[in-house]
Amino acid sequence: MDFKLTEEQLMIRDAARDFAKAELLSGVIERDSKQEFPAEQVKKMGELGFLGMMASPEYGGGGMDTLSYVLVMEELSKIDASASVIVSVNNSLVCWGLDTYGTPEQKEKYLTKLTTGESIGAFCLSEPEAGSDATSQRTTAIDKGDHYLLNGTKNWITNGGTSDYYLVIAQTDKEKGHRGINAFIVEKTWDGFEIGPKEDKLGIRGSDTHSLIFNDVKVPKENRIGEDGFGFKFAMKTLAGGRIGIAAQALGIAAGAYELAKEYSKVRKAFGTEIMNHQAIAFKLADMHTKIEAARMLVYKSAVDKDNGDDYDLSGAMAKLYASEVAMETAIEAVQVHGGNGYVKEYHVERLMRDAKITQIYEGTSEIQKIVISRSILRD
Ligand code: CAA
Repeated sequence: MDFKLTEEQLMIRDAARDFAKAELLSGVIERDSKQEFPAEQVKKMGELGFLGMMASPEYGGGGMDTLSYVLVMEELSKIDASASVIVSVNNSLVCWGLDTYGTPEQKEKYLTKLTTGESIGAFCLSEPEAGSDATSQRTTAIDKGDHYLLNGTKNWITNGGTSDYYLVIAQTDKEKGHRGINAFIVEKTWDGFEIGPKEDKLGIRGSDTHSLIFNDVKVPKENRIGEDGFGFKFAMKTLAGGRIGIAAQALGIAAGAYELAKEYSKVRKAFGTEIMNHQAIAFKLADMHTKIEAARMLVYKSAVDKDNGDDYDLSGAMAKLYASEVAMETAIEAVQVHGGNGYVKEYHVERLMRDAKITQIYEGTSEIQKIVISRSILRD
């Protein structure tokens, strides 16, 4: 396997690295503390082309490969995982889903705005009683001839309050099980669409997470994505790619925490020497470095699988499972290396530790990744 990055990939990685240091770092502690959405920074990321990286250029996308997207996710996440999840959802779940399965009219109307950052999108699958068990959708969309009537509640929706367009998964025919599920493009301004209160979260506090309530929202027929009954497969396929993005986010959080711990170990002194000279610390750094490198291989491999047109359900799930474990472990160890300083906001590692946890939960918990992996390996 050759992971040598191309000139273009290196350029886009460096652009993301520079952007994160110049534009995300200075306000990240304050945004986390106030649960403030990075609106200005998201606008700039749209201008840089970070919001629709893999989408077709004819609809304003960057036409880039998944590996470039992963590199950007990794760099942004080293500094601000709240900003990177906004990027991830818009790229992987919204733009990729529309670009791959939308009609030319849907792409013209919606994708052109989402790729440029003029508008932001959200992906709405989870419900109060359908998180991991995604087929148990309670939100209904009843066929009324020229439109569907949408009713129900969605939970934990990233970009929930800040989006303009929402990809909503709903049950259209309960009798048909997962084949009676459809996906729809819903506009924020439509009658009957209400945004619920913002969640007060442990981590990724700068990202905007809400419940959404639909009360007799009229969705035109032309806003259904794909053929009748395609919604569950649409969600699964879109999430399979999304998991690569979250795996890259986890990798970035781990790498960010490790870099901070390493730098700190070179300046902090204890027992007459810099703490890096104590094996207790040096061995922690060795472990972190090794695990991050292993996670990186899995994450890049899953991106390359997707770019090569190979199956990426398995490699994406393995990448997310492992990288999110490494993110959590590394962030906890980075706090430990910092001692008391690790427990205060100024040193960034406590935030990375809080942010790391969500990578084991969203876009499928670690347990869901193990279902996907075990089914795949046992099928052979
Ligand atoms: N690609 C294409 N089709 C797929 C697929 C995939 N990756 N995975 C499943 N399917 C198809 C199956 O082939 C099957 O179709 P057929 O019957 O025609 O063969 C159908 O979908 C149903 O599949 P399963 O029987 O495997 O379904 P299941 O009920 O056993 O569930 C699951 C499988 C993997 C557990 C799934 O429910 C799942 O992924 N759950 C987790 C949901 C999730 O990730 N939620 C996160 C919310 S989004 C989010 O977090 C975004 C955010 O805001 C950051």
